[in-house]
Amino acid sequence: MAVGERRLEGTSALVTGAARRIGRAISLALAREGANVAVHYGSSEKEAAVLVAEIEGLGGRAVAIRADLSDSSDLDGLVGRAGEELGKLEILVNNASIFPIDTLETIDLESLERSAEINAWAPLALTRAFAAQTERGHVVNLLDSRVSGFDRTHVAYILSKHVLSVLTRICALELAPGIAVNGIAPGLILPPPGKDEDYVDRLARTLPLERRGAPEDIAAAAIFLVTSEFVTGETIYVDGGRHLRESAG
Ligand SMILES: NC(=O)c1ccc[n+]([C@@H]2O[C@H](COP(=O)([O-])OP(=O)(O)OC[C@H]3O[C@@H](n4cnc5c(N)ncnc54)[C@H](OP(=O)(O)O)[C@@H]3O)[C@@H](O)[C@H]2O)c1
Repeated sequence: MAVGERRLEGTSALVTGAARRIGRAISLALAREGANVAVHYGSSEKEAAVLVAEIEGLGGRAVAIRADLSDSSDLDGLVGRAGEELGKLEILVNNASIFPIDTLETIDLESLERSAEINAWAPLALTRAFAAQTERGHVVNLLDSRVSGFDRTHVAYILSKHVLSVLTRICALELAPGIAVNGIAPGLILPPPGKDEDYVDRLARTLPLERRGAPEDIAAAAIFLVTSEFVTGETIYVDGGRHLRESAG
């Protein structure tokens, strides 16, 4: 690769939940590599507009698209709308997620269904629509380092991420040879709602690498995966080694 070469020049990407946090970092990294980016958001309209402006400021092309992933007509139309704006998509990043608190004691069917809907069904439906409009491309699914074990305070969430993890491998086989499907399993990156930065810093000291990660670490893994021509069905743990220690919460 020549120095300064933008490896995704001319491609188009859809990133779900792109307006903030990790999705924002992935979108910016894709744009810096030359991809046009469909910035999907649910409620973060202002942040999505700021991100689009930032990408345009870098000389890139981006468009913000609102869709409620729990609404089947929004979900079914999302890939088509992104394609109408940017042309055929070659990259799909399934990043949007919900992270409700529950335990084996408190989980009910409704909460399991809600997590499954956003964290597993939406990626499946989007991957199917994505594969219907391109013969070649990359799908990246955001998992969680605790798919190597369990998360006893987010049971519906971790079950839905297990489904997405298995789905990653099924789709990798079903959509080969044209489309590569991979996962990224982040560890401690950003505090969840209700927790502060100290919470993440404190937990980070217990990791093998004794530090937390940044959204840019996840974005770097995403760029590796979408520029690789020989990796599929793989999950990269970007977690400071957390998955190596059996974690139950
Ligand atoms: N943060 C971490 O340290 C960490 C650790 C392990 C795994 N992960 C995984 O990495 C990914 C990104 O993490 P994150 O913490 O940046 O995610 P997040 O902030 O929890 O969620 C990302 C976005 O998902 C969107 N979303 C949720 N429900 C939606 C719906 N019904 N319709 C449309 N959009 C919806 C929201 O968009 P709007 O704001 O526009 O509504 C939200 O901003 C997630 O898949 C997460 O599970 C993160």
